[in-house]
Amino acid sequence: MEKQMKRALPPLLIVDDERNMRISLQTVLSDEGYEVIAEASAEDAYKTLENKEVFMIITDARLGGMSGYDFLRSVKQRWQDIPVLMITGYATPKLAVDAIKCGAVDYLAKPFAPEELIHSIKRCAELHLLRQENLTLKKASTEQFTLSHIIGDHPSMAELRSLIETVAPTDATVLILGESGTGKELIAGAIHSLSRRKAANYVRINCAAIPETLLESELFGHEKGSFTGALKRKIGRVEEADGGTIFLDEIGDMSRPLQAKLLRFLEDGTFTRIGGNEELQVNVRLVAATNRDIVEAIRQESFREDLFHRLNVVQFCPPPLRERGGDVMLLAQFFLRQFAASLNKTIEGFSEAAEQKLTRHHWPGNVRELRNAIERAVILERGKWISPENLPSFQIESRLRKDTINYLSFDSYEEILEDCERNMLLNALELCDYSLPKTAECLKITEALLKKKAQKLNLIVGSMGSGGRAAR
Ligand SMILES: Nc1ncnc2c1ncn2[C@@H]1O[C@H](COP(=O)(O)OP(=O)(O)OP(=O)(O)O)[C@@H](O)[C@H]1O
Ligand SMILES: [Mg+2]
Repeated sequence: MEKQMKRALPPLLIVDDERNMRISLQTVLSDEGYEVIAEASAEDAYKTLENKEVFMIITDARLGGMSGYDFLRSVKQRWQDIPVLMITGYATPKLAVDAIKCGAVDYLAKPFAPEELIHSIKRCAELHLLRQENLTLKKASTEQFTLSHIIGDHPSMAELRSLIETVAPTDATVLILGESGTGKELIAGAIHSLSRRKAANYVRINCAAIPETLLESELFGHEKGSFTGALKRKIGRVEEADGGTIFLDEIGDMSRPLQAKLLRFLEDGTFTRIGGNEELQVNVRLVAATNRDIVEAIRQESFREDLFHRLNVVQFCPPPLRERGGDVMLLAQFFLRQFAASLNKTIEGFSEAAEQKLTRHHWPGNVRELRNAIERAVILERGKWISPENLPSFQIESRLRKDTINYLSFDSYEEILEDCERNMLLNALELCDYSLPKTAECLKITEALLKKKAQKLNLIVGSMGSGGRAAR
């Protein structure tokens, strides 16, 4: 599991009356990147639990006061969802059964290999993160995923909303193709929220975030002992989504063998858990998304063409933000209001220079990039209007952008030159934060000449530098 995921975890709690054991567990697990709290007794651990969230508990079976078993039982009564792992020095099959009966997720007998422990913890960590994600999704699916939250006046967006309305109530499989940050998750969520399945689960799996070896068991589950580390039976997420919708995000990253299994599942909803014999069946609607070039992936044989056709019943292609014209400012205003309200700030809008900067930008990260830029600007801004210097400089990006010239669209050499000059001026202005004196200095001309040139090339100059509301 990545470090980042571990950082999102609350600490884990160790309960052991032996000091050496506490120290060595704490060392091993801290090295693995977990935050650890250690207590010497069940009583102390109980107090900690009342004040702190933990994602799992590791307890010794024998403790000084209250025994590990009693502790386990009382924890399960109050905090049913916290996984508890039991460790003991006196292992007998009966004790192991007792521990599991009392609600322990796992049982380790001393001496055990650190890997065994680490593996078990990792599963609990994953479970915790999945639960968290599901909670947020459930909340989001009722609050956030409605059509009115998909902002945009551009005809492509109006079309997209009406297509969602048409397709959502059906059980059609949906494939969403679009660049990163174009709103694919928003669309998937809206489809579920407007469907007849809205009361059932909406399960999202990010195929790129789960290691290939675990993805199959994540999707379809596994039987106990089907592979090393499969300590218990695991219910797949397709079962969790029964009656509802499953959203396979980043499906372009799924391995070919798993693609074959998914294809079979899509035929009639049947599947078998890893290591299982029984054929199970669920009723699930599938929505898939990817920001990869799927046609290229098919050509390179990393994506199965037959699966593509099976998924591609209804296709959504949210266009990149740079192709949506006025939507940039519409979204910018929307995010401005949102962040200003949540940060308790009164900001009227964007200065003209800021607006120019926003509309000139290429937005390779699409709506997500815009949202982040506005959030940052609202935090930094001290005035009533967002000024250009509180927006990102976009310099690296504009240097990366290669403005290719479409010569066919010009009628004369002069027009081509004019276009080059316009782009050059705009780049310089952007680089100098739209300050007229700075830009003139950078271009080695006088301010007056710069103004004249800009006017000739139809660039708005009234708002630049110390001109309009952008005054510094
Ligand atoms: N039309 C829109 N109106 C309002 N907010 C939007 C719109 N499109 C995207 N957003 C917001 O932009 C952010 C990114 O959108 P989303 O997560 O849906 O992108 P994505 O296409 O799934 O990107 P990736 O391929 O990187 O996963 C989210 O915060 C989302 O709420
Ligand atoms: Mg996404």
